[in-house]
Amino acid sequence: MRLAERKAVVTGGAQGIGEAIARRIAGEGGDVAILDVNLDAAARTAQALAGETGRKVVAVKVDVADEDSVASAMEEAGERIGGLDLLVNNAGVLKSHYIADFPKKDWDFVVGVNLTGAFLCIKHAARHMIAAKRGSMVVIASRSGKRGGLWNHAYCASKFGVIGLVQCVALDLAPLGVRVNAICPGNALDTPLWKDLAVQYARKYNETPDQTLDRYRKRVPLGRGCDVGDIAGLAVFLASEESSYMTGQALNLTGGEIMSP
Ligand SMILES: NC(=O)c1ccc[n+]([C@@H]2O[C@H](COP(=O)([O-])OP(=O)(O)OC[C@H]3O[C@@H](n4cnc5c(N)ncnc54)[C@H](O)[C@@H]3O)[C@@H](O)[C@H]2O)c1
Repeated sequence: MRLAERKAVVTGGAQGIGEAIARRIAGEGGDVAILDVNLDAAARTAQALAGETGRKVVAVKVDVADEDSVASAMEEAGERIGGLDLLVNNAGVLKSHYIADFPKKDWDFVVGVNLTGAFLCIKHAARHMIAAKRGSMVVIASRSGKRGGLWNHAYCASKFGVIGLVQCVALDLAPLGVRVNAICPGNALDTPLWKDLAVQYARKYNETPDQTLDRYRKRVPLGRGCDVGDIAGLAVFLASEESSYMTGQALNLTGGEIMSP
């Protein structure tokens, strides 16, 4: 029970990586508010996790790109689970195009959710943690926050940006003992996000989605995609006191694909 009685918000927790992190937090003794734009899916996930773990798990609708929506969702989450001392900022989207054809509306959408959304969720969660003088934040960035990728301009820019945001917020909140860190996962090839992505990427490489997935697997030194359980395990470590001397970090979780000093 490494997160006993912690009160967590997980954005984008209805499915995929966020769902796996929410499951692990509840399994470690925390109560969880799943904030997601897809309320029906979030409610189904919340009900399932509450049943599995016996913890309080609730669903709250939010559009992370909209400040009013974020402000009221954070308030509602805090009221329904009895506080807020852990933010997992996970909601994210991806659109991929050749630079000369990249529609501005897709750029705005990706940066709006991934970067502005992270700013808004951190800002409004920080207010709770500043008042309580405790808490921690874990931001799901990406390997694309460390290295550029073909046709990936908006996503990479948003994920590089979020790492800068994490470093700045870590400095703001360090005097209160509130720690802020990021995880940079490699490609989690079995997530719903990758089902869509494999189709988008197959087009740019002129191959089938299965060939794309196979190529991505082979370029990882450890020979497999990132598992959502790998990410959930690192998120629990960063959320807990086990990482009490770490803040402002962006940890690679890429099977050896990205190695930084
Ligand atoms: N899947 C991967 O390979 C991978 C690798 C590295 C990083 N990531 C990052 O991990 C995070 C989760 O990815 P995933 O693979 O689980 O994606 P996913 O598409 O399976 O899940 C994303 C969730 O975010 C929600 N969401 C989308 N827009 C939202 C908004 N405006 N407001 C609130 N909720 C919103 C969706 O409804 C969904 O439940 C993202 O930030 C992504 O960039 C994913």
